[in-house]
Amino acid sequence: MTALANDTLLRALRREPTPYVPVWLMRQAGRYLPEYNALRAKAGSFLALATNPSLATEVTLQPLARFPLDAAILFSDILTVPDAMGLGLSFAEGEGPRFARPARDEASIAALAPPDLAKLRYVFDAVAEIKRALAGRVPLLGFAGSPFTLACYMIEGGASADYASVRTMVVARPDLLERIVDVNARAVAAYLAEQIRAGADAVMLFDTWGGLLSPDAYRRFSLAPMQAILASLPAAVPTIVFSKGAHASLEALVNAGASCVGLDWTADLAVARRRFGDTVAFQGNLDPIALLADPASVERAARAVVEQAGPAPGFVFNLGHGVVPATPPDNVAAVVGAVHAMSRNGP
Ligand code: CP3
Repeated sequence: MTALANDTLLRALRREPTPYVPVWLMRQAGRYLPEYNALRAKAGSFLALATNPSLATEVTLQPLARFPLDAAILFSDILTVPDAMGLGLSFAEGEGPRFARPARDEASIAALAPPDLAKLRYVFDAVAEIKRALAGRVPLLGFAGSPFTLACYMIEGGASADYASVRTMVVARPDLLERIVDVNARAVAAYLAEQIRAGADAVMLFDTWGGLLSPDAYRRFSLAPMQAILASLPAAVPTIVFSKGAHASLEALVNAGASCVGLDWTADLAVARRRFGDTVAFQGNLDPIALLADPASVERAARAVVEQAGPAPGFVFNLGHGVVPATPPDNVAAVVGAVHAMSRNGP
């Protein structure tokens, strides 16, 4: 294994001292980059990029060629796992994901099983190819969706304004929801273990919709299956868990077994660091929409996040959710530069 030239991210995830605050951004490779849009047009679709290891490698490296980011993240999607379970994923132009065969009735839920990992071989091949291409420059993050967030798309058949079918199932058929998240937990545990075997240096669970649930339902359907996954992974590999909007359950999340908790921009980073900074690392949490402002305001906003995090080790700068397509790439450069510069000199 190649030693990493820049391991600040891994050190920060382990709450070890770092020479500056490491930065990476959720969806750092995506539609705000003209070179991404050009390659996507050439390939024909998002899925054509994500399912071709060489193209996925090229996209993963695009933001690193522009900005001095401290990590690469595998270019893929959380929905590859339910696709491999046979639900039939497609992305309609401008509409987001669709499943041809959602899992919403008793029979389709009973038929669910963790997928044959051979169907996800293109992901593990991409991880290995990205690791080779990085040649130890920065660590590579693998990822998966949380069992509950995957269930949201599997049940609704796509994105939804209120995830009404899922939230109805919480009260009407908790047994069915439990069955889906249990299958997903086994699938995601195996999927992440294989990404790690292929070379991922750390892994992240994206729980985009956990914050939709009441605290009780969150613990049962979102947190518990994530805890099972985290407990199953090799202890030496740092882990990040991001449950958007689940601040009411922050203490439980801090104790879920991840090395690092990702916060969205509505969370109080300073309070989280004061209360739990000795237990876990934190990642976050600039509002992605702040990157639509003028560069001086963007820099000021980024510096304010680093100030809130304070000087103690165990902080990774990120946005509170993914980079949005309207983001000017120069503003990403401004954020990365400002965070590195101010943290090198001490906040
Ligand atoms: O962060 C990264 O740079 C790695 C790549 C990555 C993508 N999706 C690429 C992508 C990651 C980590 C994800 C995770 C993901 N996918 C989540 C969890 C995080 C989040 O954003 O909440 C979710 C909920 C999905 C499901 C998904 N994928 C949706 C709802 C959509 C459509 C909305 C959108 O932004 O277009 C996608 C498509 C998708 N995944 C794109 C990218 C770059 C856009 C595809 C395109 O080029 O049209």
